[in-house]
Amino acid sequence: MSEHQSSTLSIPPVGAIPRHIAVIMDGNGRWARRRFLPRVAGHRKGMEAVRATVRACGELGVEYLTLFAFSSENWRRPKEEVNFLMQLFVSMLEQEVMKLRDNGIRLKVVGSRERLEERLVRLIEQAETLTRDNRKLTLTVAVNYGGRWDIIQAVQRMLQAQPELATQFGETDLAPYLAMSYAPEPDLFIRTGGEQRVSNFLLWQLAYTELYFTDILWPDFDARALHQAILWYQQRERRFGRTSEQLAETLERRKPA
Ligand code: IPE
Ligand code: IPE
Ligand code: MG
Repeated sequence: MSEHQSSTLSIPPVGAIPRHIAVIMDGNGRWARRRFLPRVAGHRKGMEAVRATVRACGELGVEYLTLFAFSSENWRRPKEEVNFLMQLFVSMLEQEVMKLRDNGIRLKVVGSRERLEERLVRLIEQAETLTRDNRKLTLTVAVNYGGRWDIIQAVQRMLQAQPELATQFGETDLAPYLAMSYAPEPDLFIRTGGEQRVSNFLLWQLAYTELYFTDILWPDFDARALHQAILWYQQRERRFGRTSEQLAETLERRKPA
């Protein structure tokens, strides 16, 4: 499958490792509250879960891992918590980028950069440049990201580049302008922390993604929890609108003669 081809166009084999996993890392605040710690202690601990998940995805051969770190709605949180999270991104970029580069990981950051501090934007650009030729794993971090923002910015950029599309355009015209046009659509979506909602994450791209929800709080998420989610995914039959019988035929045709 080419890098740009939509996952919804072709049927991945049952039992395969998902190529693209997208995660809503939720439950940091509750993890901290249960320990009578400030919410930010949960965010700090959540970084360990990020490291464990990135490592495990690399080992399993997952090609794309996308982590929702800060939504366009998270600005509504107390100022101190927002500042702490922004500082956490800065130190993550300062401390981990060389490791990413040396481990074959390409870092991408998606979301609006408009409200981000200049220093953070500069670090993001440096990290993206430094790791741009890596292909073992593409790690995308969504910061100040919203699914609706993504669709709107894509329409705006498309019309700017191709004004002739204003009267009529289709999915394949728009797709190249979405923030994650470099990745296939997610195969597996994981949300930790027990809530069963999408919270304005990748709205367009999740059209045919398998949705997995776990009560595990993000700071407790680890390689074992990831393996559980993947095992669950491997038992799903992805039909993309077709019938079970049609899928059986496709599989029959795929078998080597
Ligand atoms: C997710 O954990 C991290 C971010 C949204 C940045 P939360 O901070 O939402 O944790 P809960 O949901 O309050 O437990
Ligand atoms: C979603 O978590 C966003 C991130 C994990 C970054 P929230 O905890 O902010 O989601 P809602 O607002 O409870 O749905
Ligand atoms: Mg939450």
